[in-house]
Amino acid sequence: MKLIHNPAEWNPLWLNHLRTNQQIGLVPTMGALHDGHLDLVKKSREECQVTIVSIFVNPTQFNNPEDFNKYPKTIEQDLAKLALAGVDYVFLPSEQVMYPAATGLKFDFGALEHVLEGKFRPGHFNGVGIVVSKLFHMIRPHVAFFGQKDLQQVAIIKRLVNDLSFEVNLSIVPTRRELDGLAMSSRNLRLNPEEREKALLLIRSLEKARAELTKGTDWKIIKEQIEADFNAEPLARLEYFDLVHPDTFDTYSIFDPAKKSSICVAAFMGDIRLIDNLPIIS
Ligand code: PAJ
Repeated sequence: MKLIHNPAEWNPLWLNHLRTNQQIGLVPTMGALHDGHLDLVKKSREECQVTIVSIFVNPTQFNNPEDFNKYPKTIEQDLAKLALAGVDYVFLPSEQVMYPAATGLKFDFGALEHVLEGKFRPGHFNGVGIVVSKLFHMIRPHVAFFGQKDLQQVAIIKRLVNDLSFEVNLSIVPTRRELDGLAMSSRNLRLNPEEREKALLLIRSLEKARAELTKGTDWKIIKEQIEADFNAEPLARLEYFDLVHPDTFDTYSIFDPAKKSSICVAAFMGDIRLIDNLPIIS
């Protein structure tokens, strides 16, 4: 496994792989790697001859400076996991390499930016759009791998690839969960034992809502019930619990089994913000 720090190191390697007709898979991450990230790596190794994982905690996508400063950093363990997983390259750019000068670039993802994550984390998707564009330009992969865990991020990246004509295929990987159902997340490392236990409220409410939908209960009633469940838990603070179209993120007020839908949730457990989602009709 070779460590790469800048495009100058990568370019000749990229050219060699291209000349020998090898498909290059990119897995963009912010580190603090868990088995969910490793599922993306596994998929890349299945689909591509060469896998490169990037690790960069991207400052422009954090709307909250404290969240950025406290973002877990476990680089030694990350590299050990990636070596074991059979990764070929790890791209570890410095902030200077990614942002030689401050950027004022502004994307407009339209309605996608104004709901759910877009609404509660202003500027977040702009930062994601900038860093993912830079990674696509620097690494020039054939395929890039993203997790369904960040469903709205997937919708944003699909738009980015479409609108800017990036010649990259996207491969989307299902959410990896802990044995008890909690979606794996780097932020789980920051939960204390009590918050970790209460964090199950996210997946439990998604499953409860799905079960109610299949029974024919009105979405409005389901949503009120879930909001009451969150209100009853002093450690929890619900930001949203919405039924949406998984590509456009239009929110539904009535469930229609003929239309694609997913339920998305975001909530704080103590100081830690968690998200999760469950496909209903795909
Ligand atoms: P990060 O949160 O490190 O996630 C990297 C990738 O792993 C994302 O595509 C994310 O959706 C996926 N992932 C996270 N948890 C997962 C889980 N439990 N199961 C499956 N996949 C999971 O998402 C980012 O970083 C950043 O926004 C990034 C795209 C790297 C841009 O900075």
